[in-house]
Amino acid sequence: MIDTVDATTAPGSSTATFHPLAVASIETLTDDAVAVTFAIPTSLAAGYRFTAGQHVIVRRSVDGVEHRRTYSICAPEGSGDIRIGVRRITDGVVSTWITSELRVGDVVEVSTPAGSFGRSLAQRAPDHVAMVAVGSGITPTLSMVATHLATTSHARATLILGNRSASSTMFLDEIASLKDRYLDRLHVIQVFSREERIVPLQNGRIDQDRTASLLAAFVDPAEVDDWFLCGPLEAMSAVETVLLSRDVDPLRIHRELFHAGRPLARRDLSASDQGTQVEVLLNGSRTVLTGRDLTGSILDGVLAQRADAPFSCRNGICGTCKARTISGTVEMESTWALDSSEIDDGIVLTCQARPTSERVSLEFL
Ligand SMILES: Cc1cc2nc3c(=O)[nH]c(=O)nc-3n(C[C@H](O)[C@H](O)[C@H](O)COP(=O)(O)OP(=O)(O)OC[C@H]3O[C@@H](n4cnc5c(N)ncnc54)[C@H](O)[C@@H]3O)c2cc1C
Ligand code: FES
Repeated sequence: MIDTVDATTAPGSSTATFHPLAVASIETLTDDAVAVTFAIPTSLAAGYRFTAGQHVIVRRSVDGVEHRRTYSICAPEGSGDIRIGVRRITDGVVSTWITSELRVGDVVEVSTPAGSFGRSLAQRAPDHVAMVAVGSGITPTLSMVATHLATTSHARATLILGNRSASSTMFLDEIASLKDRYLDRLHVIQVFSREERIVPLQNGRIDQDRTASLLAAFVDPAEVDDWFLCGPLEAMSAVETVLLSRDVDPLRIHRELFHAGRPLARRDLSASDQGTQVEVLLNGSRTVLTGRDLTGSILDGVLAQRADAPFSCRNGICGTCKARTISGTVEMESTWALDSSEIDDGIVLTCQARPTSERVSLEFL
């Protein structure tokens, strides 16, 4: 019953695969959020090994329509636990099912881990990391901060958390116990948008003004080696804008978005598009897209012909659909899931890409 739809991971890493996993436990985190841990059979343990900051894809079919959603792993690296934290979104197809209907013992299609959000923690072992997590953005952040403090004895971390209130904060107890364990090395700053704190600076939303004030009061960007930002687009853009205005190297700012606008819209083909040809290499075989295959994104064209194309969000934020450009050029509507070094290396998000040269050749990662 094992299915082999591929979901590509970071550049150069191996592909991920879906397996049916039983739910081992469900913990209530807040009124609208739960943590779910999946049981991993010994035979699959190696495949579900992950690095801090990675995510899995949950797949669910409703009335014959397949839905895929990405969820970050909140457990520390090396724990062996595939534990995710899910917040219910109003009318959300997958989050409402997970937070309201899922029960221990149910079997769920879950991909092996993918993603490269925490890559530079492992590669650089930075001294001082600062993390800004808004709402459910705490999920990968919790894994990364716990892993980094446990594995790098000299490391310090500053954690800025944005939530509506203490009661709506996911993983509050775990953040508190990390704080107790690393009293001198972890600084946690909580900001609440709907709960009054004694310090006015900690009341409100994380926007540009508040970010600038928080930096002035608590953390000098010149003393931070790497920044990790995770949460909604608006807050993350505000933080990034302020950091860039303070001369933080863009390569030291790592961000992961959980939600962005709509998928790339389909469009009519112009006369000049008619002769365009896109060749795609995927899992060792070649697919050629022409004409009507190219009214949507390159990923749409591939999915119309093949079921094994890797994807999840189709919104340019999860990075599952990455491919390397072999020849030709494409334009992308959004590149949130790519860092600047990947763009320089010709990595593209196929769910956001349309060809801009007559011949394009891409290879899925
Ligand atoms: C890399 C990555 C990691 C993620 N990690 C987590 C995680 O750890 N925990 C978690 O809870 N979620 C996480 N998400 C978000 C998750 O993948 C889903 O998008 C989310 O659960 C909503 O799915 P749904 O099927 O319930 O809603 P849908 O049925 O897809 O959407 C319902 C409505 O809500 C809107 N919507 C969808 N998502 C959001 C959102 N996040 N905020 C506001 N409006 C939204 C849609 O536009 C639509 O109008 C992550 C996303 C990405 C890309
Ligand atoms: S499918 Fe998520 S970035 Fe393309």
